Amino acid sequence: MQLKDKTILLTGATGGIGEALALRLVKQGATLVITGRNADKLQRLQARILANGGRCRSVVADISLEAGISIVAQEAARVPQVNMLINNAGVSDFIEFEDQSAERIRCLMEANVTGPMLLTQRLLPQLRIQQGMIVNIGSTFGSIGYPGFAAYCASKFAMRGFSEALQRELADSPMQVLYVAPRATRTTINSSAVESMNAELGNRMDEPDWVAEQICAAIIRRTPRVYLGWPEKLFVRINALFPALVAVSISKQLPIIRKYLARQNT
Ligand SMILES: NC(=O)c1ccc[n+]([C@@H]2O[C@H](COP(=O)([O-])OP(=O)(O)OC[C@H]3O[C@@H](n4cnc5c(N)ncnc54)[C@H](OP(=O)(O)O)[C@@H]3O)[C@@H](O)[C@H]2O)c1
Repeated sequence: MQLKDKTILLTGATGGIGEALALRLVKQGATLVITGRNADKLQRLQARILANGGRCRSVVADISLEAGISIVAQEAARVPQVNMLINNAGVSDFIEFEDQSAERIRCLMEANVTGPMLLTQRLLPQLRIQQGMIVNIGSTFGSIGYPGFAAYCASKFAMRGFSEALQRELADSPMQVLYVAPRATRTTINSSAVESMNAELGNRMDEPDWVAEQICAAIIRRTPRVYLGWPEKLFVRINALFPALVAVSISKQLPIIRKYLARQNT
C-alpha cells in the first residue's frame, strides 16, 4: 500500500510510539488527523508537521469517554476521505491485581479496549467507502499473560481477539484489519520501576522510532499480524502451544517482578 495521499486517523499521537509514527507517516506523504489528551503536546506535533510541509489536523479528546469518541468521529467526518484508523492510544498499569482499584481497571479497559472498538465502529462506514484499513496496536502482552500486568494483558488479549474477529468478519470486503504487537518499548508508558525490572530480567526494550518503522512497514506490506522483537515473537508461539513451559520460566522471574512491584508502589 502506498501511504502517499492516504488520510490516516492516528490516536495516541502525543505518546512515544504515536509521535514517531506520525512523523514517519507524514514523511511517506500521508495526511494525518492526530489525537491525544495533552493539548500542548498535540499542538506542538501538529505545528512541527505543518512547518515541514505536511498536512495535519488535530483533535484533543479522551477516547475512554463516549464524548471523546464522538469528538474524534465528528472531526473525521469533516475530512473528505479517511482511509485508515490506527488505534494506538493506550495506558498501562504495573500493579498487583489484588491492589488494582475497580476505577483503575475500568479506566484501563475503556482506554485500551472499549474506546478503540467504539471508535472503529464509528469510522467503519467511512473506511468502507475508502476500502480502508484498521491498524490495532497490541503488545507481546496481548499473547502472553505476565505478572503485574493482569488488566493490561486482558486489554491487549481483547484487542488481538477483536482484530482477528473483525478481520474475519470483513473478509468478503476489500477492507483489512492489522494487528501489530510491539514488545517493551522505551516510552513513558513504562514507569522507572518497569524499566529497571526489564534491565534486571534482561528484557530488551526497543526505541519508539524503530517500532514506528516496523508499523509503517506492516501497513505498506499489508501484513495482517506482526509480533515485534526477538525472542518475544518466538515466546508468543511457544506460549500458544506449550503455555506450561512459559509459565515455569515466568515463575522463576516472579521474585524479581515482586521486588519491582513493591518499589512501584512506594
Ligand atoms: N511502550 C511499550 O512498552 C509498549 C509495548 C507494547 C505495546 N505498546 C502499545 O503501544 C501504544 C502506544 O504506547 P506508547 O508506548 O507510545 O505509550 P505513551 O508514550 O504513554 O503514549 C500513549 C498515548 O496514548 C494516549 N492516550 C492514553 N489514554 C488515552 C485516552 N484515554 N484518550 C486519548 N488518548 C489516550 C496518550 O495521550 P495523552 O498523553 O495525550 O493523554 C498518548 O498519546 C499503546 O497502545 C501501548 O499499549 C507499548
